[in-house]
Amino acid sequence: MENFRRPRIVKTKDLKIPNYYTQAIDGEFGEYAFNEERVLENKSFWRSKIFKVNESAPMDLEIGTGNGVHFQHHCLAYPERSLVGLELKYKPLIQTIRGCLRKGAKNGRIVRFHAFNIDEIFGTDEVNDIYVHFPDPWTTPRKPRNRVMNPRMLELFWQMQRPGSKLDFKTDSREMFLWAMQQIEASKYKIEFHTLNLHKTEMTAENIITGFEKIFISQGIEINFVRLRKS
Ligand SMILES: C[S@@+](CC[C@H](N)C(=O)[O-])C[C@H]1O[C@@H](n2cnc3c(N)ncnc32)[C@H](O)[C@@H]1O
Repeated sequence: MENFRRPRIVKTKDLKIPNYYTQAIDGEFGEYAFNEERVLENKSFWRSKIFKVNESAPMDLEIGTGNGVHFQHHCLAYPERSLVGLELKYKPLIQTIRGCLRKGAKNGRIVRFHAFNIDEIFGTDEVNDIYVHFPDPWTTPRKPRNRVMNPRMLELFWQMQRPGSKLDFKTDSREMFLWAMQQIEASKYKIEFHTLNLHKTEMTAENIITGFEKIFISQGIEINFVRLRKS
């Protein structure tokens, strides 16, 4: 962790050419979407100030929501749970929260934020379940340090998760998955279930096929999946 340099993204207010999506994050959807600066105030106050729920209510986190298939499903299927989604790109981010609200779910919040800085927006014991679906594999160029399931992130996830919570990770990249499994085995997490071919297991019954997953399945690519548990 000592050599870690925090990635910094261009601030929304400094964008040279604003468009509908970059403006909607603080305008039309300002109550449900947060830019990289406003969200900093939410740390340790997600339940009390943002979702206005009891401190014991479950609140989950999804990293890299993309077009929001899983995010929207989760919000609609589990109205008793809250969900925070992190995404870097404005267009999918706004489409995700807009679709969610149109379908009647108000228990989701979407955030433009770099996943590697999650400790700036979540406190210890603040999060329940975590979903990491098809993060960028960083195999070409091969830069393992940029992969989400790295030792530092696994430690951050562990610190912010409540005991008993799960962490689901799935990817089309066998290379990244096998690398991630090595990091996981050296982490504090218990491996509850893992497979190199998710769609040939009983886990398909509860699996939600994400936007990218649909494409990979159509190409005949096997999906790697692991479920971790924080004791
Ligand atoms: C391959 S897509 C997968 C999207 C979605 N989870 C799915 O399965 O369809 C990866 C997503 O993660 C987002 N992303 C990449 N790096 C990120 C980071 N450091 N923090 C947050 N989101 C990130 C990308 O913008 C992209 O939408």
